[in-house]
Amino acid sequence: MHIHQQFYGVTLTGATASLFTMKNDNGMTVSITDFGGTIVNLITPDRNGKMLDVVMGYDSLRDYETADGYLGALVGRVANRIAGGRFELDDEVYDKLYINDGENHLHGGKVSMSYVVWGVREFATDDNACRLVLTYHSPNGDEGYPGNLDVTVTYTLDNNNALSIRYEAVTDKATPLNLTNHAYFNLGGYASGSILGHELWVDAESFLVTDAALIPTGEVRPVDGTPMDFRTAKPIGRDFFADYAPLRLAGGYDHCFNFTNWKNTAGGDPILRAILRDPVSGRRMEVLTNQPSVQFYSANFLKNPLFPLKGGLQQRTQTAVCLETQNMSGSVRHQGNPDFTDCILRPGDAFDYTTVYRFSAD
Ligand code: GLA
Repeated sequence: MHIHQQFYGVTLTGATASLFTMKNDNGMTVSITDFGGTIVNLITPDRNGKMLDVVMGYDSLRDYETADGYLGALVGRVANRIAGGRFELDDEVYDKLYINDGENHLHGGKVSMSYVVWGVREFATDDNACRLVLTYHSPNGDEGYPGNLDVTVTYTLDNNNALSIRYEAVTDKATPLNLTNHAYFNLGGYASGSILGHELWVDAESFLVTDAALIPTGEVRPVDGTPMDFRTAKPIGRDFFADYAPLRLAGGYDHCFNFTNWKNTAGGDPILRAILRDPVSGRRMEVLTNQPSVQFYSANFLKNPLFPLKGGLQQRTQTAVCLETQNMSGSVRHQGNPDFTDCILRPGDAFDYTTVYRFSAD
């Protein structure tokens, strides 16, 4: 079990970025840069012990800095979209959020947390785990959001092949907050092609319906009897091409799935909420979290020809799965609706959520 730091590059604004590589006693290896807190590599064994990298990413810091897609990055202040880049909070209107997705605000804005070098509070190893503790100060007015916000993210790799991500934050003025990690997984190895054969189980009884711009309309729809039902594991491709408006509007899966009984479980112990499995390699990823929902995204926009992935691989849609545990981004515009999460962090509140990605093979 060890972690080491190496030079990763210098950003366009002159900041130095490092790469931290953790390796556990089984040989599982995770590399994370302090630029965006981005997971760059995640190498795990298949059923025969063959090690492969199962996350999409780029070969250089410059690509992470200039490309879109948020590959492997930490995302905030509010992951996903805020309609019109505006919201109201405590009788004030905030309407200067950066517009970067049609007419809407996406993933916290222009620089946000994904395109900046985070502080490194600590990187350390003990008998059972390696950890990397990253910090980010987002000043009042940052990207149009209120309040001085301090975020701490702790990545931990243990000998059970579990990578855990703990998100903590405090603010001095009420702000919406929804933090996640945007890793793109392909359990056959990042270069192995379509994920439509991956099997997925998600413990969600409902999902958020969106409009064509992928903005939640306010409707929470039961998954029962729809292609969105993953309560029994099924290949992602089984219903992918169904003539079902939410799938066709989004070009695939790109929806917030609300976990069963989320109102009573959010903030408690992380519980098993999703399992992704590649039947070819046998690699399996369990997702445990105490967040209330997950944005399941089948990489429908992963097709930018200008930014080849690691090793020069061309981007292709549906070659990765994102399971972005989070609260419901639509909550910012649906405050007070009991079907949505409380997305406001207030002074004195402790924002504290953990998501675990645990790997095995069968
Ligand atoms: C999220 C969104 C997608 C897309 C990606 C980034 O997963 O839900 O619609 O914007 O981020 O490309």
